[in-house]
Amino acid sequence: MSENIPHGGKLVNRMDLTFEIDLSLNYVELDLLELSDLELIANGGYSPLKGFMEKADYDSVVQNMRLSSGLPWSLPITLAVDRNKAMELKNGETINLTQNGTVYGVMDVKEKFLPDKYVEAKMVYGTTDRNHPGVKKLFQREEVYISGPITLIKRPEKNKFETYYLDPIQTRGRFKELGWKTVVGFQTRNPVHRAHEYIQKTALENVDGLFLNPLVGETKSDDIPSEIRVKSYQVLLENYYPKDRVFFSVFPAAMRYAGPREAIFHAIVRKNFGCTHFIVGRDHAGVGNYYGTYDAQKIFSHFKEEELGIQPLFFEHSFYCKKCGNMASKKTCPHDSKEHIILSGTVVRGMLKNGEHPPKEFSRPEVVEILIEGMQEVYTKI
Ligand code: ADX
Repeated sequence: MSENIPHGGKLVNRMDLTFEIDLSLNYVELDLLELSDLELIANGGYSPLKGFMEKADYDSVVQNMRLSSGLPWSLPITLAVDRNKAMELKNGETINLTQNGTVYGVMDVKEKFLPDKYVEAKMVYGTTDRNHPGVKKLFQREEVYISGPITLIKRPEKNKFETYYLDPIQTRGRFKELGWKTVVGFQTRNPVHRAHEYIQKTALENVDGLFLNPLVGETKSDDIPSEIRVKSYQVLLENYYPKDRVFFSVFPAAMRYAGPREAIFHAIVRKNFGCTHFIVGRDHAGVGNYYGTYDAQKIFSHFKEEELGIQPLFFEHSFYCKKCGNMASKKTCPHDSKEHIILSGTVVRGMLKNGEHPPKEFSRPEVVEILIEGMQEVYTKI
């Protein structure tokens, strides 16, 4: 069994909320992705990172999926600035990290370097196609990366669902109080449909607790907004999950849509939040047809299990089978695929926007009600 120790051995803490803001310092304005990364570096979610990556780590992560120390790490965590700002900044200088004029952190600038974004796109996303949302975002970001250790001095506002934001130290504490020795983490950027519920509960048969930890940071515009999703998780947990076996909190990171590489990242970060196991189903963190259905599972064979320190639990593509009369996968169901209820995310989102109910075998009616109501509100605002 995997040991429940943070990645790199120790939970990083780079928060100092008593730090006195010095507005005379030079500053760098963060976008939403960078702001969420700042918080997750500071609260230890990204342990062992202590700041935005320096060139040696960046190159090593892009090329080998390892930090320069050799520790597995699959996604670059970087801070991008334009050339003019990069020219202004001096190595060794302390700068403010701001968003919309508010100072959230400080960083000691260590290095400035020009990434090769084509190489980053090819290695991390497996494509340089700018129709890929992660690649599009990568090329939209500024040209120069700056690195250095950070300190978070103000928590980003949580005006949406405040009580559900917990730091790794807190989730670890909760798991301990609950007496869970084994905890399986579940990442999602979607509502929890029957297939998600099926794989979560199948996993839960073998471990002490389930940590439902949906991503609520930046996602692409056609993903279902997190406010609506959180309501749908609440109603589902209320009605269909054992209260003493499930713990819910949100994951503030942005989605990269990097498929296999992001699956490794999601697993490592959930280890930092205290999980011993992590669910990887079909096309984890994928988008369009950029990745093979099980690429995000295959990539785990690149690492020794003890290097990752969290055990992945792989699941086949799951569905409701009308003949079986229950949830199943190709592994467990002998029937023809015409008996299987499978709907793509795009079809489901289209149905919800039109006020149509996806079948109850696909999604619980209570969840569908919330999604329809929420999506129609979003739709009328557009
Ligand atoms: S993700 O981008 O956060 O991975 P999603 O919410 O679609 O998106 O998936 C959450 C987890 O459930 C992932 O591990 C994914 O592989 C898995 N998953 C989603 N749908 C299915 C399904 N029908 N069968 C098996 N696994 C699934």
